[in-house]
Amino acid sequence: MTESAEAPLPAKETTPRCFTARFEPGGAAFTVSSDQPLLIAAEHAGVPLPSSCRNGTCRTCMCRLVEGEVRYSIQWPGLLPEEKAEGWILPCIAFPLTDVVLTRQRPR
Ligand code: FES
Repeated sequence: MTESAEAPLPAKETTPRCFTARFEPGGAAFTVSSDQPLLIAAEHAGVPLPSSCRNGTCRTCMCRLVEGEVRYSIQWPGLLPEEKAEGWILPCIAFPLTDVVLTRQRPR
């Protein structure tokens, strides 16, 4: 699992790609476009996630990226280095670069 917060944002894609996102445990899966934040895609698919600010500051939506890769719509998402190392992401500003598996559970 990786996230590309420090990398420059890629140029806007002319043709968005579709990926599969899955939540563990339970396996709720949904399709997400590469130009859509994971939080919005989850809501459209009927997979509710807690949220508040929707701009990467409140941390209400925090999930852990178990598999896959995301990029952010802002350069400095509000996560500590230790949280990033554990795979925590902010789905309200995270866009998929691959299929992803997410969880709200802490690492073991
Ligand atoms: S909803 Fe506030 S950080 Fe995602």
